[in-house]
Amino acid sequence: MSGFPHQLEQRSTAEALCDALAERLEDQLRARRCGDRPLGLATGRTMEPLYAALVRRLHGWRTDELAALKACWSSFNLDEYRGLAASDPRSYRRFMAEQLGGPLQIPDAALRLPDGSAADGDGAAAAYGAALARCGGIGVQLLGLGSNGHVGFNEPPCEADLPCRVVSLSSATRQQNAGMFGGDPAAVPSSAITLGLREILAAEEIHLVVTGAAKAAILRRLLAATQPDPQLPASWLLRHSRVWLWADAAALAPPLA
Ligand code: GLP
Repeated sequence: MSGFPHQLEQRSTAEALCDALAERLEDQLRARRCGDRPLGLATGRTMEPLYAALVRRLHGWRTDELAALKACWSSFNLDEYRGLAASDPRSYRRFMAEQLGGPLQIPDAALRLPDGSAADGDGAAAAYGAALARCGGIGVQLLGLGSNGHVGFNEPPCEADLPCRVVSLSSATRQQNAGMFGGDPAAVPSSAITLGLREILAAEEIHLVVTGAAKAAILRRLLAATQPDPQLPASWLLRHSRVWLWADAAALAPPLA
């Protein structure tokens, strides 16, 4: 098996990268029809300039075109923290409402995320996975990369056949995401609901976005992988034939001597 990725898109800055990917997504959204497979959306800082670029582009559409797109909007996010109310400013539901739902006025029900506030987490995860399956699975999947190699909240070690489920978050991930929680890793929820590699690998097409110097080390590890390694969940993407890696110069930079 050859290494990762099948297609590499490089740009000098995160902004240029996100604009190029937003242009590609815009083309795909133009071709969308009601009933097409849902979009697979991601959260995290990497996605902020991407959603901003996409919103700018979509605001340039004719009113009737944009209305038609929104009328058929269907997306499933990768993951949600457990134990936060949907209205909590740190929840991924709020993130999506701020970055995409609000600016584009997409109805909340069309922008789906796991129910992190459900008392029965396993039940909520199963219901979310079943709802996605009823829609035919993901069409275009956006992914960020965790600094420990996670995708969604699929923490290492992770197998390729794991479905949507409740997961415990590693200390590395709670550290990575502490910024939204006053800088305190202990304040980051200890569990989440995530789509599994099973649903992610069933997507028709995947775009992995990696930007910034903080991701250079994990990206080097990923680029060096020649076969999937459970300790590096993103390396399961080697099994998929339609994966694009979008990386900026900082993430692709060699280590300082
Ligand atoms: C988070 C999310 C992922 C996200 C990744 C990268 O923990 N669960 O879906 O893609 O880690 O986050 P960021 O873009 O903030 O670096």
